[in-house]
Amino acid sequence: MAGRADARRGADGTRERCPAGSGNGAVVRVLDGSGRSERLNPWPLASAMPPLAAITTAPACARAYLVTVLASWHMNQRAAELQLIVSELAANAVAASADKSGSPWYIEGRMPVIRVCLLSDWALLRVEVWDQAPGIPLLRSPGDLDESGRGLALVDHLSTRWGWHPAAGQPGKCVWAEVPLPGAASEPLRA
Ligand SMILES: Nc1ncnc2c1ncn2[C@@H]1O[C@H](COP(=O)(O)OP(=O)(O)OP(=O)(O)O)[C@@H](O)[C@H]1O
Ligand SMILES: [Mg+2]
Repeated sequence: MAGRADARRGADGTRERCPAGSGNGAVVRVLDGSGRSERLNPWPLASAMPPLAAITTAPACARAYLVTVLASWHMNQRAAELQLIVSELAANAVAASADKSGSPWYIEGRMPVIRVCLLSDWALLRVEVWDQAPGIPLLRSPGDLDESGRGLALVDHLSTRWGWHPAAGQPGKCVWAEVPLPGAASEPLRA
């Protein structure tokens, strides 16, 4: 589990979550006691998708969003892998938001939602999928004949690292994965 998050109220009254300090494009460094510079904003590039109903169409919407954002950031190098990752994470979030028959667990009469955030520091791309569901991600070791239990194994294989942390102050969690950008230009000069 890792990551910091703040919460903002969206226009629709729901909570919008994204890593603290993201989204403003600012890149900040300060000198620590030893004189080394230390990054305050680990993800200067950030984009949060509006909440998606936690239903089976969500993974496709998340993929389309990811492709669009990566293109606008000129970071298409890992688009194929990232589409698989966001798809698996979104599918898991949707599954966790529903009962065994596939009907969404309504929360105080409202459809559960998932949220997708993309973050980058030009060297790494991070995908976050937030849900409002119980349960935690468990990396399984499926046998040859098992029909499920492969999603997180794929994420584990495709990403440098992945993890999750609970959402602060409300049900649910953030499941995230990070992928390096091959040949990414070194980080721009930072103040
Ligand atoms: N966002 C989540 N919330 C709650 N539980 C989760 C979440 N993501 C994964 N899990 C748990 O981790 C397990 C493993 O997930 P994984 O994606 O590897 O397999 P699966 O979803 O069961 O099957 P597959 O992805 O192969 O269709 C899930 O069965 C579920 O119990
Ligand atoms: Mg899965």
